[in-house]
Amino acid sequence: MADSQARAATAPPSSARTLLADADTPLIRNAWYVVALSEEITRTPLGREAMETSLVLYRRADGTPVALQNRCCHRSFPLAHGTLEGDAIRCGYHGLKYAADGRCVEIPMQDKIPPQLRLRAYPLVERAPLVWAWFGDPAAPDESLLPHPDWLGAPDWDMYIGYLPIASSYVHMHENLLDLSHLSFLHPRTFGTPEYARAPVELAVAGADIQAWRHVECMLPDIYAVPLGWQGQRARRSSGSRFVAPGLHVNTGILSNLERPTPADETPPTIRVAQVITPIDRHRLHYWFVGCRNFARGRPDIDAFMREAQIKAFTEDQFAMEQIARMQQVDQAGDYTEMHIPTDAAGLAMRRHLAALAAREA
Ligand code: FES
Ligand SMILES: [Fe+2]
Repeated sequence: MADSQARAATAPPSSARTLLADADTPLIRNAWYVVALSEEITRTPLGREAMETSLVLYRRADGTPVALQNRCCHRSFPLAHGTLEGDAIRCGYHGLKYAADGRCVEIPMQDKIPPQLRLRAYPLVERAPLVWAWFGDPAAPDESLLPHPDWLGAPDWDMYIGYLPIASSYVHMHENLLDLSHLSFLHPRTFGTPEYARAPVELAVAGADIQAWRHVECMLPDIYAVPLGWQGQRARRSSGSRFVAPGLHVNTGILSNLERPTPADETPPTIRVAQVITPIDRHRLHYWFVGCRNFARGRPDIDAFMREAQIKAFTEDQFAMEQIARMQQVDQAGDYTEMHIPTDAAGLAMRRHLAALAAREA
């Protein structure tokens, strides 16, 4: 990885600003986004907003998940308030019935069914614990773009899951996750240690693969020190942020105890957090975080401890994201120019990438 940092605060030229995605950039539709946890989709219809779309989610009798447009073709009643009949769903207002592929198959009081009377069906791929939906052309879902990593849900990693709704642009959320210098200031009592803000950044950008790494020597915060039994001991903490796709970001932490180094033939304690980001619209998002670790295995108490600690920390991010969004909404009268500092390099690469994807879709 090569160091690549700008040297001073800079304001982008106006032509460059249009090349950076922001809260007004159209959402990227040719991509996979998580619409629910596997456990949320059952034989009871579930309404879910994602990607400027209202969906109804349910399972066929054989267990395969279904995602349909939630808006009845007749008078817009949400099908999530309807009932399942086998694999079909019947609207709870005037009773139109739709098959799992979205075709209307029954209109009470009418024999003929116009062929255009159908709901859009969204292709799904279930990789427990997540269910991914394709929002591009429904006839051509591109599974090569599915970002689900192999380790997520694999039995050799212990896992916990949390969720927060955030009233913010998903672009800002990715940018937040790519710049961990904020750990020292936004998270001083949860995740952060003072060393983070000044730690050099190793940036690696290869097309759409954007990573930033930091290596600090510090006293670990309790979220890691307690499960490892390393409280009061100095450790090396390597933290990587990786933009994987518009709907997924992965943060990795590799830990080593400086007083009791991990033997060379052993895998160091590692945590990977799948940061699952699904825009509800341009200004709101679903945020699921799936924490996976290779240490303190088989310990439900540690699952609960780490999940609670992460919810506390990510609630701080939620606060920051929502404050920024509010500032952008209300403070529009004066002059304002967004300035960049060296730690923004990865975030700017991500924003250029999203802007290019949006331009291509437009
Ligand atoms: S709104 Fe669904 S049948 Fe009338
Ligand atoms: Fe954060």
